Amino acid sequence: MKREKWWKDKVIYQIYPKSFNDSNDDGIGDLKGIIEKIDYLKGLGVDILWLSPCFKSPFADQGYDISDYYEIDPQFGSIEDMERLIEEAKKRDMYILLDLVVNHCSDEHEWFKQACEDPDGRYGKYFYIRDRLSDGKVPTNWRSYFGGSVWSELPGHPDKVYFHAFHEKQPDLNWENPEVRTEIYKMICWWLEKGIAGFRIDAIRNIRKPKVFENYTPDGEDGLCSIDRMIENAQDIGEFLKEMRRETFDKYDAFTVAEVSGDVTDELDAYVGENGYFSSIFDFREIELSFRDGETGRKQDITAEEYKQACFISQREFAKCGTAVNVIENHDGPRGVNRFIKEGEVCLESKKMLGALNYFMKGIPCIYQGQELGMENLKFKSPEEFKDISDKFRFENAISQGYDEKRAVELTAKMSRDNGRMPMAWNDSMYGGFSHVKPWMTVIDNYDELNVQTEAEDSNSVLNFYKRMAELRNNPVYKKCFIDGEFIPKWRLKQNLMAYIRKANREIMIIGNYKNSPDRVVLEAPYTAILLNNYEDDPNDKINIDLKPYQLLVMEV
Ligand code: GLC
Ligand code: CA
Repeated sequence: MKREKWWKDKVIYQIYPKSFNDSNDDGIGDLKGIIEKIDYLKGLGVDILWLSPCFKSPFADQGYDISDYYEIDPQFGSIEDMERLIEEAKKRDMYILLDLVVNHCSDEHEWFKQACEDPDGRYGKYFYIRDRLSDGKVPTNWRSYFGGSVWSELPGHPDKVYFHAFHEKQPDLNWENPEVRTEIYKMICWWLEKGIAGFRIDAIRNIRKPKVFENYTPDGEDGLCSIDRMIENAQDIGEFLKEMRRETFDKYDAFTVAEVSGDVTDELDAYVGENGYFSSIFDFREIELSFRDGETGRKQDITAEEYKQACFISQREFAKCGTAVNVIENHDGPRGVNRFIKEGEVCLESKKMLGALNYFMKGIPCIYQGQELGMENLKFKSPEEFKDISDKFRFENAISQGYDEKRAVELTAKMSRDNGRMPMAWNDSMYGGFSHVKPWMTVIDNYDELNVQTEAEDSNSVLNFYKRMAELRNNPVYKKCFIDGEFIPKWRLKQNLMAYIRKANREIMIIGNYKNSPDRVVLEAPYTAILLNNYEDDPNDKINIDLKPYQLLVMEV
């Protein structure tokens, strides 16, 4: 019999360990630092803590390049610290999710080192190693995510190349090889045995490659073609994913949330249906609006209407099957408020509105560290501030396209992955209380106002608003409605206004006036209670509701 989904009423919080809290003053966040702050997280009403990778790594891609899956990187602490974190979480009815990065490992992993020693031997088969073509060329013209070819020369073997969808320090593991899969499943179970609740699963659509490796039509001046074409041409990923689920997650009733890039609307049932590969996947439809066009190949500004329509489509699709994990930001891009709110209009009210519109949709909310403080993008001043491998590449690319340094910094900054990777601010002391020494990464300018301690003392802060959202969602009177309630869009065609109803035993309406000017909506019947309001005063009239700029109301109707 299928067990009740223990995770379905939970809220996730993503921790970027390197920037969360530094307990030993080396400028780098660590596991003990997380343990120190676990009561803060409990107080925020979150249940599941997802930690971005904290395994042994050379940090080419900030830990998403793992050189030993069974070790914690010494920067972060030890296995004992991880065990303690798991224990401390359990004591508080909280859960730990680790980041499962198994499309690739690090080029410093023992497997890859052995593969370089003997490409024809056992470990050579752990990777995609190919001979160069007779003219010295590489097998395909696919472009890696971080720029340049997916093929790099195998160290020590000028005649051979290996495949990497991401950076050259992240060789892709060969999932076609059953021995690789067995090794991965063994590792997953080892961690689940330790008592973690499950995994966030990285870049999982990349594990399947097409049967034939061939050139596709180039789509850029570099003569290369987006790796997305490769993913579209890969068949039957389900074969691996079903096996992984059966051999690992199922045995532990684990919760999984996968990072699935691209549009899988047509395959949603296979991914997250009753017998889906995963418990859930992130809904990236809103975030992926950014990837359409624009000066640097990305659309820069997303309108309220685009955001709303994307949410409504996703909610409609997930209503047919499965659970979405709803996000406005993560460690891979700008802050949600900078992405989804017009420049110049990012303020207390709009931050709260966006947060709530996302939080109360059907699914599992996932808050990224600092989001609850209303953290904004970094104001990058010089290229040295870019720590991320792909930011560095994009900056250099902009320079080579003829932009001057200042403009290249601006262009890179807007979509920079470093925007969300700055140290968390805990109080108004030096470095925001993150550390007593200069942190590994630039600290936000305004940490004197925007930090946990200051916001905790201010009843009007974003932080206290997030706490009120959690209290409301957990209120036994409304819980069923927020968790199981149907999602019904309201006034869909009304411009720059996003409203929906959650309906179960009760009816709750969420309205966001998604613009910097007032508006009015007319209800069918008087509302019965205002449950949440990002302005102090409740509306004067219970039917004709006058909305202030960026006003957010949650009301029982
Ligand atoms: C995922 C991660 C990202 C990382 C990439 C490669 O997209 O979220 O940070 O660079 O996978 O592991
Ligand atoms: Ca530290």
